[in-house]
Amino acid sequence: MSARLQPAPQYRSMSAADLDAVMAIENGIYTHPWTRGNFRDCLDAHYHCRVLELDAGLIGYGVVSIAAGEAHLLNLSVAADWQGHGHGRGLLTYMTGMARECGALKMFLEVRASNAGAYRLYLRAGFCEIGLRRGYYPDKAKPEDAVVMELDLT
Ligand SMILES: CC(C)(COP(=O)(O)OP(=O)(O)OC[C@H]1O[C@@H](n2cnc3c(N)ncnc32)[C@H](O)[C@@H]1OP(=O)(O)O)[C@@H](O)C(=O)NCCC(=O)NCCS
Repeated sequence: MSARLQPAPQYRSMSAADLDAVMAIENGIYTHPWTRGNFRDCLDAHYHCRVLELDAGLIGYGVVSIAAGEAHLLNLSVAADWQGHGHGRGLLTYMTGMARECGALKMFLEVRASNAGAYRLYLRAGFCEIGLRRGYYPDKAKPEDAVVMELDLT
């Protein structure tokens, strides 16, 4: 029996042409997904929007804003069918490396207090919890707190 070689993930800049695929993933994995307009705004603002592709197509993406030496991870997503195979870890490593190359000294992010999987991903990548934003995620029924995390990129 021979092991099947997995094709290496490819990372590239996101463009408006990717938004159908991005929105299909976004709507499939979040209870409160970003809108197409949110992604367009990030592209228009020249935020660092990247996608992760396999032979199967686009399976993940990340969005980072960088200013004054500080990077902010605004979105990190892997399609539901591809989660749990290390792609989130790979995409996060790529996004932190890209931010470092752009001169960022620190990266910050907010993660829902209930999102144990993502929280663990960030902890294992070296992020530290530095605070809590109460009711950061508005929801009429029950606003949710955000855990604020920081990674030293130096
Ligand atoms: C969070 C997300 C990006 C992780 O991507 P992924 O490809 O599923 O994660 P990986 O397979 O690379 O796992 C990497 C590490 O993350 C942690 N992790 C990821 N999913 C987890 C889960 N469901 N439960 C517990 N830990 C999890 C683990 O520490 C894992 O490493 P380990 O298996 O060695 O312990 C992905 O699950 C996703 O897109 N989720 C929905 C959107 C989201 O919540 N994004 C983050 C918003 S802040």
